[in-house]
Amino acid sequence: MHTMTDPEDNWLWIIGPGAIGRLLAASLMAARQRELREQGASTLPRVLLLGRQAMSGQDVMLDMTTPELLIISARINHSTIDTLQGSSSRKPSAIWLTTKAHGVPAVWQQLAPHITPETPVTCWQNGLSAQPWLAERHPTLLCASTTEGAWLPPAIDSSTDDSVRLGVQHAGRGHTWLGAWQSDGDGDPDSQSHQAALLQCDWLRAAGFACESTPDIQTRLWHKLAINAAINPLVARYRIRNGQLRDRPFAPMVRQAVEEISAVLDCEGISAPREGWQALVEQVIRATANNRASMLQDVLAGRPTEVEAILGPLRLAAARHGLALPLLDDLYCQLSTPQR
Ligand SMILES: NC(=O)c1ccc[n+]([C@@H]2O[C@H](COP(=O)([O-])OP(=O)(O)OC[C@H]3O[C@@H](n4cnc5c(N)ncnc54)[C@H](OP(=O)(O)O)[C@@H]3O)[C@@H](O)[C@H]2O)c1
Repeated sequence: MHTMTDPEDNWLWIIGPGAIGRLLAASLMAARQRELREQGASTLPRVLLLGRQAMSGQDVMLDMTTPELLIISARINHSTIDTLQGSSSRKPSAIWLTTKAHGVPAVWQQLAPHITPETPVTCWQNGLSAQPWLAERHPTLLCASTTEGAWLPPAIDSSTDDSVRLGVQHAGRGHTWLGAWQSDGDGDPDSQSHQAALLQCDWLRAAGFACESTPDIQTRLWHKLAINAAINPLVARYRIRNGQLRDRPFAPMVRQAVEEISAVLDCEGISAPREGWQALVEQVIRATANNRASMLQDVLAGRPTEVEAILGPLRLAAARHGLALPLLDDLYCQLSTPQR
């Protein structure tokens, strides 16, 4: 049921050649090349990596360092999103959006004229701002929620005239949930989006990721948002590593953040995890003690953060239910004004 008949014409566009985009592109293309070598055929799609910055060649060599420090290299087709105009070849079977959440509207403006409503588009963003925004504009929407971790090593310029080398560090293996945004709760097994989610899970598993499809991706996204909301704004505001949240004066702030978040989720009817929100957040802080969250890295680099995507949906829901969020509102205001 989930197979593609014409692999030569089977293109996956990955838009946003950052940490997650490169991790997915390199893993899929390496798996495709392995299948071609060993079996003479592959049902995996070919990847077209689309960015907004021109590179000197059409081909990109992606060097992915695995968590075990092996280097896996894969040649990838690359193009800039503004040169999509007029290109009729390499039409996508599916599209994965791997920009930050605030990048999605600009991407959509350039992408929309080139795809049909049936083209499955998968959002890989954290938070819950890009997904509902895109759901109002595109019917075949899928979402992924992943705990894979990746970051970009400093660029080393080893480009030649017709190829560019890009790196990505796969920092830690995790789990990915993938599902249709619109779901009737039973997973509507015949829907085009549900079928696309099953197929894309097959691709991800073939590329070495632990992946499951889910009939209720929205609850998964809320759960990831809750954990991000309890940790990321605090570490970004105070410029600390995750593990420091266990110490004073931060531990009581984490408890307050979790109380505010869980009150909103209760009112929204989002089920709590079995161990409870406080225990889950403490567990994630322990497991990521040495990490500098991406929101902190964005603050330190003077880049826009994903604070709107993560705290924005909680603030909207709190306003709907008449709940006060004193700590989260304060963090939102602090992080929404330029730092430094
Ligand atoms: N990294 C992780 O471990 C991880 C894990 C789970 C979820 N996520 C989520 O995945 C999303 C991406 O994260 P990331 O860490 O991969 O971010 P990232 O490294 O900043 O990558 C984003 C990429 O999108 C590109 N981009 C921005 N606007 C674009 C446009 N209009 N057209 C084409 N490309 C555009 C950026 O290009 P420029 O270089 O030109 O800015 C950059 O290459 C975020 O929502 C994040 O929360 C990340």
